[in-house]
Amino acid sequence: MSTARRVPTAILISGRGSNMVALIEAARAVEFPAEIVLVAANLPDAGGLQRAAAAGIATASVDHRPFGKDREAFERALDAELQAHGIELVALAGFMRVLTPWFVTRWQGRLINIHPSLLPDFRGTHTHARALAAGVTEHGCTVHFVVPELDAGPTILQAKVPVLPGDDEASLSARVLEQEHRIYPQALALVASGATRLEDGVAIGR
Ligand code: GAR
Repeated sequence: MSTARRVPTAILISGRGSNMVALIEAARAVEFPAEIVLVAANLPDAGGLQRAAAAGIATASVDHRPFGKDREAFERALDAELQAHGIELVALAGFMRVLTPWFVTRWQGRLINIHPSLLPDFRGTHTHARALAAGVTEHGCTVHFVVPELDAGPTILQAKVPVLPGDDEASLSARVLEQEHRIYPQALALVASGATRLEDGVAIGR
C-alpha cells in the first residue's frame, strides 16, 4: 500500500455529476494523489449528490438562492464547508455558478475546472450548439486552472474530437463527454501530485 500523502479534494457540482463519478472512480486507486473527501452542490437536488453519497463520499449542499445577488456571501458559506472538511484542492465538475475574484483568489492554483470546448474557443455556455453553428471540424474539452476571468485560466489538459457530418448537439456532447471523463482524472492527478502547477499565472510542467 502506498504511504504517499493524498491531497484532500472537494468536487463542486450543480447537476448529474458524471465527471464527478469519473473523478471518484479514479481516486479509488490508492496511488492516486488526490482523495475525494467532499462533494458539494449549489442546488440541493443536484443528482450527483446522491451518486456521491452512494459512493461513500461526504456531501454538502449550499443553496445559492437564499443569498440572492450576494455571490460572495454564498461563496463564504461554501468556503466554510471546504474549510470544515480540510479541503486543499477544489475540482469544479459541471458547477454552473460564476465565482467571484474573492473565491478564485483564495483558491488560486488549487481550483480547477472542466469546460466542454477547446478553450479559448467557446467560453461560456451552449458550447456544442455554438461549435456546430460555427461549422468547426474539431471540438473537445479543456481542464484548466480557474482565474477571475471566466474560462480564461491556463490549460492543464485538452482533448480533441472530430465533428462528424450529421452531428447534433446530443451526439457531439456525448463524444466530448467521453473525453472529459478520460482527461479530468489525469489533470487532477497532475495538479494533486504537483507535476503541474500555477506559477505567475502560467501552468508549469504540462
Ligand atoms: C460537462 O460537460 C462539463 O464540461 C460542463 O457541464 C457538464 C457537466 O456534466 N461544464 C461547463 O459547462 C462549465 N462551464 P456532468 O455533471 O455530467 O459532469
